[in-house]
Amino acid sequence: MSLLNTIKKKIFELRSELSYKVALWQHAPKLPALEARDRDLLNHLQKEGAYVTSLEELGLNSSVNLLKAASSQLSNMATPNNSKTCQKLPQIYTVTDLPEFSAWANEKRLLNIIENYIGLPVAFHGVHLRKDFANENQFGTLLWHKDSEDRRIIKIFLYLNDVEEQQGPFEYVPKSFTSKFSLNFYRIYYKLWQSGYLGIDDQTLNKIIPKSAWKSCPGKAGTVIFVDTKEVLHHGTLRTEEREALFFVYTANPPKAPELCTQYWDDTFARPKQMYSTTVDV
Ligand SMILES: [Fe+2]
Repeated sequence: MSLLNTIKKKIFELRSELSYKVALWQHAPKLPALEARDRDLLNHLQKEGAYVTSLEELGLNSSVNLLKAASSQLSNMATPNNSKTCQKLPQIYTVTDLPEFSAWANEKRLLNIIENYIGLPVAFHGVHLRKDFANENQFGTLLWHKDSEDRRIIKIFLYLNDVEEQQGPFEYVPKSFTSKFSLNFYRIYYKLWQSGYLGIDDQTLNKIIPKSAWKSCPGKAGTVIFVDTKEVLHHGTLRTEEREALFFVYTANPPKAPELCTQYWDDTFARPKQMYSTTVDV
C-alpha cells in the first residue's frame, strides 16, 4: 500500500472513531432506565466483560416457550457424520426467524441492558442453535480469540444441557487482565496477528496470562452468559462430551462490520422450519 493510501486509510479510521465517540455522547442521555437488579448486571458486565446468570434469575416470561422450541429443534437436528474426521466442527442451525427465539431475544429488559452497555441503538442480528462436539485439539472457536463484528458486541450464551468440565464450558479472560494500557494487550494482539487472527492455544496464552486468571463458566441447563466477545479474549474449552447451547448476537445499529453479521440470519447455516407450533403455549 502506498504511503498516500495508508494516510488516507488512517484518516478514514480516525474520522470513523471520532463520529463513533460523538454518537456515544449524543445517545447517552437517551439510554433507557434500568431496574436496580439490571443495573447490577450492567455494572458487572462493564467491569468484567462478562456476567453469568440463569433463566430462572432473569425471570423473563418468554423463557418457557424458548426452552420448548429449543428442545424441539434439538430433537430434529440430524446427527452429523463426522465420526471419522479429526476436527469435529460444531453443528449450527440459524433459528432467528422462529418466533419463540426472536421473542426472547427482543425482550425489552434484555434490549435495555444491552443498549446501556453498547451505548447506542441496538441491532439484534440473530440466534444460532449450536451443538459442539468432543475434540482432542484446539481449532476454530476452541482457540482463544476476540470477535470483530463491532466495537462493542454482546453475545448471550444459553446452555441447553448441563455444562461441566467434560462438556467444555465457555471460558474468558476478565477485562482487567487485558486492558488497553497493559503490556498484555499488545502481547496478545501480537500473538493473534501471528496466528492470522485465527486464535491462540492454551499454552501460548498461559505464558502471557496464567491459567489461574482464566474464568471458566460451567453451569446447569438454563445458565445464561452475557459477554462482550470483542472486549474479552474467550473460547470454548476442549470437551469430551457434547454441549448444546443458543448464541444470541447484538451490536450497535449499524455495526462496524455488517458483513460479519449476516451469518446470523442468512443461509450460511441450516435454517430449520418451524415444526413445533402445535406444542408451544401461546
Ligand atoms: Fe467468539
